[in-house]
Amino acid sequence: MKVTVVGAGNVGATCADVLAHREIANEVVLLDIKEGFAEGKALDIWQTAPINLYDTRTVGSTNDYSKTADSDVVVITSGLPRKPGMSRDDLIATNAGIVKTVTENIVKYSPNAVIIIVSNPLDVMTYCAYLTAKVDSKKVFGMAGILDTARYRAFLAEELNVSPKDIQAVLMGGHGDTMVPLPRYTTVGGIPVTELIDSAKLGAIIERTKVGGGEIVKLLGTSAWYAPGAAAAQMVEAVIRDQRRVFPVCAWLQGEYGMKNIYLGVPVILGKNGIEKIIELDLNADERKLLEESATAVKSVMDVLDNMNATA
Ligand code: NAI
Ligand code: 2OP
Repeated sequence: MKVTVVGAGNVGATCADVLAHREIANEVVLLDIKEGFAEGKALDIWQTAPINLYDTRTVGSTNDYSKTADSDVVVITSGLPRKPGMSRDDLIATNAGIVKTVTENIVKYSPNAVIIIVSNPLDVMTYCAYLTAKVDSKKVFGMAGILDTARYRAFLAEELNVSPKDIQAVLMGGHGDTMVPLPRYTTVGGIPVTELIDSAKLGAIIERTKVGGGEIVKLLGTSAWYAPGAAAAQMVEAVIRDQRRVFPVCAWLQGEYGMKNIYLGVPVILGKNGIEKIIELDLNADERKLLEESATAVKSVMDVLDNMNATA
């Protein structure tokens, strides 16, 4: 199995490292536009193989897409990250140009690949890749929900002083401050979280999760990479190993949740064909209202992209 990661920056290199270290593919190609950058990162990762005892081959490429040919899965992380004071949406014009060019090249050399988008603003960059790739929407989707849910689960584990392994949760909506963590679908070792934590503390954790990306931007001066890279690698693994894992994923909705023609975070089953199934939860009125507000926010940024494309 062959996986390409486009963008050898913080998130891309971390994702490639996890893919190699965990032997999720036989070959990982890391590609970047910056001369020598991907080759350098790939070489460094490859030199961890004798230490970490794996045999996945990691190779780098400066914008030569022929090296990515016949990839089974491609992860797109190329683009600018957030800086302090920027929202994810501020990145739209620059990153849309990058994601479009990258997707054209990917589809040319790997027409059957499953494509996972990481670049921000996530929901809209996934839409951009879908419009460009012109392949089945089940094969083009975005990574955000696993990261956002991981933040929520990590904060809960800390508060409850339990292992994060035992916290299961669903989070829906766009990858932005309108994301929708769902306490009704959050359990700790099978116990509903609401039985273990008071509502004020849970509310504070939900609010912290919503701005979890910004918290790291403030601390580091750029956005996170360890958790995002690991989250993208977990999605690749589900596809490569046909695991049928249940994850929140940014998926193209065609009537699910009463919504159409929008990319939004929803629970799905991920397997060898990409999105095998979108799971429809029976949301209550409050949850539905929050999801609709999040969809409105995502749609407004999708409209910005549509208007840019119309005037291009
Ligand atoms: P970074 O700046 O460390 O790396 C980006 C890389 O993309 C750079 O090495 C750059 O040379 C490369 N690049 C730019 N244009 C390219 C092109 N046309 N072709 C190939 N490579 C190109 O940024 P970082 O931290 O890795 O973040 C990458 C993206 O992921 C950003 O848009 C960031 O906002 C987003 N992100 C999304 C998350 C999510 O949950 N979906 C989480 C974290 C980051
Ligand atoms: C994050 O959530 C900024 O999308 C990036 O860390």
